[in-house]
Amino acid sequence: MTASDITRRALAPLAVGGMAAGLEACQPKPGGDVQPRSRQFPPGFKWGVATAAYQTEGSLTADGRGPTIWDTFSAGGAHIADHSTAAVCTDSYHRYPEDVALIAGAGLKAYRFSIAWSRIVPDGAGPANEKGLDFYSRLVDEQLKAGVEPYATLFHWDLPQALQDKGGWLNRDTTARFADYAAIVGEKLGDRLKNFITLNEAAVHCVIGHVLGIHAPGLKGAANIGPVTHHQNLAQGLAIQALRAGHADLKIGATLALQPCRPTGGLPWNKLASGGLDALWNKAYLDPLLKGSYPKSMEANLKGVLKDGDLKITKQPVDFMGVNYYAPTYLGLDLTSESHIAPGKPPKGVELDAFGRHIDPSGLAETLAWLRTDYGNPRVIITENGCSDPISQTAPAIQNDSFRINYIRRHLEAVRAAMEAGSPIDGYFVWSIIDNWEWDSGFSSKFGLVSQAGPGGVRAPKASYAWLKALAQSGLLPTHE
Ligand code: FCB
Repeated sequence: MTASDITRRALAPLAVGGMAAGLEACQPKPGGDVQPRSRQFPPGFKWGVATAAYQTEGSLTADGRGPTIWDTFSAGGAHIADHSTAAVCTDSYHRYPEDVALIAGAGLKAYRFSIAWSRIVPDGAGPANEKGLDFYSRLVDEQLKAGVEPYATLFHWDLPQALQDKGGWLNRDTTARFADYAAIVGEKLGDRLKNFITLNEAAVHCVIGHVLGIHAPGLKGAANIGPVTHHQNLAQGLAIQALRAGHADLKIGATLALQPCRPTGGLPWNKLASGGLDALWNKAYLDPLLKGSYPKSMEANLKGVLKDGDLKITKQPVDFMGVNYYAPTYLGLDLTSESHIAPGKPPKGVELDAFGRHIDPSGLAETLAWLRTDYGNPRVIITENGCSDPISQTAPAIQNDSFRINYIRRHLEAVRAAMEAGSPIDGYFVWSIIDNWEWDSGFSSKFGLVSQAGPGGVRAPKASYAWLKALAQSGLLPTHE
């Protein structure tokens, strides 16, 4: 499940933070395509793909891996649309050489994968598990051998269960544990692995996992917003310090699920609702990292959580911002819901993708413009963008996926236009290389450039794979599919 999908389907219970933040509403700029002047990407632009450990590796008990919150949450297929588990997925714990060959075979030069914290520190604290480290060492070497640049995300939502048992992100101690883990990875792999991403989409992990209970750890309640938001921000700051202390030459970034929050219709009170989500979802992560502050509306949430000196830790120099973008979200005021925020309708005539989300490259242009104008224009990598086949529990993947090519092409137009407007964008990573285990949607949602016939099954490149290969070779964005 992705951020925009979640907010549309399940926002109603989201309470605190919304109304208070209203006056920070982002401006509605619904629209569609954004046309660049030139369709030629520069040489050296990094074409890549992204995955996450829990969605791909399988082998959940191999080589001393400790259990995570996702193992607990999805045990026996509980909470998952098709009742599947991540026990096998793309079997990338064993098939990683094939994964890397597919990536290199498409002429892609970058691979964003994530490291499973509980393979490295199975109990969340204590000594490193050498066998877990060895797996990622082999994965990194495989990429370097194939001419693919590794980008490792340190945390893509799979918290060690042992830490959850002590409160997880509600417990400030988890921040120090994350820094210890980051230091271990940096020390062992930092001689070859030079690109690190701290956290993936901390907003999704907070709201969907700790407020709405749709993702692991399945907690509910607006009271969790403050501690989970701040402890992730603090952990990130401490981890960046720890990584840099080990190797000064690392390139470190953070990946956020940036999402324009737009009021449904033109009604002023709907702006209160959309501004509320904008503060919780976007600014509560951008501001502490890039400005050393929180939006005013977060103050009440952070009482007793934010300590003196913390904002000096959350604000760290980053080498790039990772932007994950899928779609904007529309919100309205709804006095009958507990939160007074409700998912709203997009403007009439908006196109929907096969997943049911609206296709709006202007939303990506808008988030890139925030970074240029409000956040000092950091270097950027689009660390995720892509679309799914229609959700279905049984249908095979669509091999002739012209809808995916269309989606990617139009979002790349927005990327290129943002570069022309002055955004220093270094790369674009498609989510994802192979159909994988899509969290609470299980295998019923497919985002890959390559299909796989069931967990561990035969793989077959889709039309989008060949299309991206041609683009990576020429750098010239076609005008149509
Ligand atoms: C993003 C997640 C990723 C995957 C894609 C479709 O929100 O980071 O793991 O679920 O959506």
